[in-house]
Amino acid sequence: MTGAAAPSERPWWRDAVMYQVYLRSFADGNGDGVGDLPGLRARLPYLRDLGVDGIWITPWYPSPMKDGGYDVADYCDIAPLFGTLADAKAVLGEARELGLRVIVDFVANHTSDEHPWFRAALAAAPGSPERDRYHFRDGTGPDGSEPPNDWISAFGGRAWSRITEPGGEPGQWYLHLFAPAQPDLNWDSAAVRADFATILRFWFDLGLDGLRLDAASGLAKEGGLPDHGFLAEDLFQPVNWVGSPLWDVEGVHDILREWRAIADGYPGDRMFVGEVVVNGPERLARYMRPDELHTTFNLDFLKSPLDADDLRRTISATLSAFDQVGAPATWTLSNHDETRHVTRYGREYTGVPLPPPWPSPPSDRELGARRARAMLLVMLALPGSVYLYQGEELGLWEVEDLPDSVIQDPVWESSGHTIRGRDGCRVPLPWAATGPSLGFSPGAVEPWLPQPAEWSAHSVESEDARPGSMLEFYRSALRVRRASLAPGDPLDWVDLGGGVLAFDRGPVRCVFNRSTDVVQADGTVLLASDASEELLAPDTAAWLLR
Ligand code: NOJ
Repeated sequence: MTGAAAPSERPWWRDAVMYQVYLRSFADGNGDGVGDLPGLRARLPYLRDLGVDGIWITPWYPSPMKDGGYDVADYCDIAPLFGTLADAKAVLGEARELGLRVIVDFVANHTSDEHPWFRAALAAAPGSPERDRYHFRDGTGPDGSEPPNDWISAFGGRAWSRITEPGGEPGQWYLHLFAPAQPDLNWDSAAVRADFATILRFWFDLGLDGLRLDAASGLAKEGGLPDHGFLAEDLFQPVNWVGSPLWDVEGVHDILREWRAIADGYPGDRMFVGEVVVNGPERLARYMRPDELHTTFNLDFLKSPLDADDLRRTISATLSAFDQVGAPATWTLSNHDETRHVTRYGREYTGVPLPPPWPSPPSDRELGARRARAMLLVMLALPGSVYLYQGEELGLWEVEDLPDSVIQDPVWESSGHTIRGRDGCRVPLPWAATGPSLGFSPGAVEPWLPQPAEWSAHSVESEDARPGSMLEFYRSALRVRRASLAPGDPLDWVDLGGGVLAFDRGPVRCVFNRSTDVVQADGTVLLASDASEELLAPDTAAWLLR
């Protein structure tokens, strides 16, 4: 099914509001305490009613789940934990009937160490074609017991692990920018390229509207894998790197062009959204040249402190860099890797990363929720597409007191139990006010991570019944965005004094009061993030009809 079609004049992905489904924590259909496709399928009408345009499903592939499914053992099937290919087709079909687009994660920087390709590489000899699919190298030092170079892993420590050769002797090393269970693929290998082209087609043939490209800026490595001067204890900070040999390396663009050509061969505006973590919007825009990715997440916006000047700078820099390549911006406040923004915004310092000392300072939940409402209005008023993370529509916060015994994030192990990792934003959703899993699982099953008891009041059932709830606010905001904001309208900044972020989009003015004074709303209020219709208290925002 590869009849090329001209893209629409304004393809859907330029302005869509997408909802991220972190599958194992969204809804459990079969009662094993883990979210799955039947659970998602049953809740699709909830997402339609929320008012989003589509969903992004995190990896659904067979996987040993050492990194929540970002360790893929088979790229063309569904993990039994999540269901079957027939379930995936049913989700796609029903989503389409409800008018929802569906995109899924595509993890091509690395496989699982249980993928048949890696197993074959371990069983084969150094220098074999099987090993050439990955980055295998001899070690350094007199007996090869030192890693091949000084590169570091995103999950801490060196990016290399040593294997035992089939004969039982200590052997070569392989590269992993993430956990040791996630060996990096060698994208200079023609076999890797050809296989992934087939995998892409497999999913586009099945009807996916797009793919979210995991760790896209890591795919290419500098030839010869040269040292960079990293110390073993250095932090992995790709937002600060330019010219590193392991990230944002020029060769990545060839790979993306190949994929874009495949997507363009399909009808229906298939798209890519890249997880491209690089140094600033100019570098990011290079990934969205017309023959590369359609969109990339704007993580600078997610990470920005809630300061009117900082936000304006980030938004302006993004829009002007992206304009150069004709790409739309893609905004988001939270995802499955970051502390939930209700918690971040309830702290004194609201940006990412937190300044030392670590661990996290206290957070005022009420303040965080107020600011989260205001920032939702800011984000939804911006030109471009938006990604919402599951549970933010319920005002869920980061669960920071999970018992050590339940933590599954590989960062916990690789940091020697010093960094608790990302499980706190992955706690299963509360659907009902009562029951052992607050409606996440059927029956008396406990969910795979324990939910706070207070989430009873934040369940879908409770918020549905409570006027003024976060859920009601999200539904209203999405409705008003659809009705009042024309996608093509440009953004014009408005100066309303220090500490106030204000801009016009067509008929709508968005005002976010970050000053300590009350600000006059001045206009017909379409939607306000607090109860007042005329005055904007600190940390509130409104959309006004001009
Ligand atoms: C980015 C994903 O969002 C994250 O969850 C994962 O751990 C890494 N990539 C490695 O795949």
